[in-house]
Amino acid sequence: MLKGRNLIEPTNFTIEELDEIFRLANDILRDEKKYIDVCHGKLMASLFYEPSTRTKFSFDAAMYRLGGNVLGFSDPTTSSASKGESLADTTIVTSNYVDLIVCRHPREGTAQLMSEYSSVPVINAGDGGHQHPTQTLTDLLTIQYFKHDFNNLKIGVCGDLVFGRTIHSLVRAMSRYENIEFEFISPKELSMPDYIKEEIEGKVRYHETNSLDEVIGDLDVLYMSRVQRERFVNEEEYVRLKDYFILNKEKMEMAKDDMIVMHPLPRVNEIATDVDSDKRAVYFRQAHLGMYVRMALIMKLLGVELND
Ligand code: CP
Repeated sequence: MLKGRNLIEPTNFTIEELDEIFRLANDILRDEKKYIDVCHGKLMASLFYEPSTRTKFSFDAAMYRLGGNVLGFSDPTTSSASKGESLADTTIVTSNYVDLIVCRHPREGTAQLMSEYSSVPVINAGDGGHQHPTQTLTDLLTIQYFKHDFNNLKIGVCGDLVFGRTIHSLVRAMSRYENIEFEFISPKELSMPDYIKEEIEGKVRYHETNSLDEVIGDLDVLYMSRVQRERFVNEEEYVRLKDYFILNKEKMEMAKDDMIVMHPLPRVNEIATDVDSDKRAVYFRQAHLGMYVRMALIMKLLGVELND
């Protein structure tokens, strides 16, 4: 059903298709050995025009763990982009060599553009401040793992809501489930863009606040995010806003016993390290689950079955 498709934004897949991916990810998680060679002979291009630790490593690890291989770059100056080659030409050529392309790029809309020139599936690994759908798959698998349901949740998203592409993708994806309520927690300068609010209008309830303390006690999920320095045009503005929210042990005392704290990572100062040992802090586990959901995604887009 998903073979040959692109993943540009999370809503490219239906809820049922996402469930298929999560079922497979959970099976891989239960018994990874079964899947050790299912992508033998397959090749994935990993084209990272922007820095990454988790997304790049977890995709590469996912492909290698499935028995496939990876080529690509994490420094675009080593590619012919530095000689002025267009993204379209790079895509046409690369897609002739591989079975799947994973791409991160600082410009919004790049993955969509690549998908129009590629002869193989394209996965958006983050395009500027726009979308990060595989982080959303990671986030949904994490929510399912710890909360056992995607419905009836009160979710606080906190920090940089204007540039936070993982938050934009998560909000879109969660707005398709039942009885979801969001708290958008940010300073006014970093508030949720109107186009996202318009998209979810009538699908979920949401409130906006600049006080984490006021709402933390009601949340089932607190999704923290980093203030995205690289997307600011004014460094002074970044410095003024970067430590607006710092989640620490003291604040965690106000939260429910079964609230979970998520973060796409990397973190800077927004979660103090004294929170890491709290059983509700699941962000490192979240990053680990990201590899399994990417293994499942690769298999689905390549149409690879366990008994092939
Ligand atoms: N969560 C995430 O996208 O992390 P990286 O930037 O390290 O890939």
